[in-house]
Amino acid sequence: MSLSHDADRSPAQGADLAGKIALVTGASRGIGRAIARQLAARGAILAVHYNQAQADADRLVDEIAGSGGDAFALAADLSQAAGAEQLASALGNTLQTRYGSDAFDILVNNAGVGLRARIGDVKVADFDRVFQVNFKTPFFLIQHLLPRLRDGGRIINVSSIGTRSAYPEMSVYAPSKAALESLTLLLAAELGARGITVNAVLPGATATDLNARARDPEMAHAIAATVALGRVGQPDDIAGIVAFLAGDGGRWVTGQRIDASGGQRL
Ligand SMILES: NC(=O)c1ccc[n+]([C@@H]2O[C@H](COP(=O)([O-])OP(=O)(O)OC[C@H]3O[C@@H](n4cnc5c(N)ncnc54)[C@H](OP(=O)(O)O)[C@@H]3O)[C@@H](O)[C@H]2O)c1
Repeated sequence: MSLSHDADRSPAQGADLAGKIALVTGASRGIGRAIARQLAARGAILAVHYNQAQADADRLVDEIAGSGGDAFALAADLSQAAGAEQLASALGNTLQTRYGSDAFDILVNNAGVGLRARIGDVKVADFDRVFQVNFKTPFFLIQHLLPRLRDGGRIINVSSIGTRSAYPEMSVYAPSKAALESLTLLLAAELGARGITVNAVLPGATATDLNARARDPEMAHAIAATVALGRVGQPDDIAGIVAFLAGDGGRWVTGQRIDASGGQRL
């Protein structure tokens, strides 16, 4: 009896995002791809945003469809001033065409660019590019999408532990993420009345294209020595935390910065 009760419950738990629509920026590779996979596995319809990696985005869409899910790809260069508006209107048009409404439920601002440079070496153009992709575009993407984000929805911003530990080579990157975290806090207060939660997830060193050091065995070993759990992160480590925040279990968490580093530089 109890077995069948569990069996009855598990599909519903596994598909707790069924009927929800999620946009994940930078979902073609790395952490964003892992987030998109985990949200889709829990039943969400996925808008897979990419910039250059169209083949990777298309492959992910096919993979999700092949597993019985629903996904589509959207392109936009978020380093351009018009990128946020382009992505917002592409999302709206596609949702309207496919589902008859442009409303959606979950926004994950994951797309980001890194820059390893101490303050003395930073060029204005690099500063502008990093702030554009990591902060200005998410800011305006949220602005454009807020009217269409359903009450009870989720905004999850992918930041970095560079905002809570000093890494001098993150002189531009870390402040761009700190701005995103500041926005996270005030939006959580503003949007609470609509039941929308807003949180930031702060990965530590995670093995992706962006962090080649975390993929290099020797350097990963050195980084692991600074991590309480003794290894560098994998994209799925971060995605699990984002999926928790996106799901019903995360409904009572808002305005928070969630460290996702395995305890790096505690
Ligand atoms: N990896 C780490 O150690 C680490 C640590 C802390 C925080 N983070 C944060 O985690 C997030 C994901 O990073 P990742 O490590 O997964 O990086 P990644 O593997 O390099 O992937 C970056 C993603 O962002 C997209 N992107 C980059 N520039 C873009 C642009 N101009 N316009 C639109 N999309 C753009 C890429 O799209 P295309 O491939 O289609 O061009 C790709 O999907 C970032 O916000 C990063 O700051 C990463």
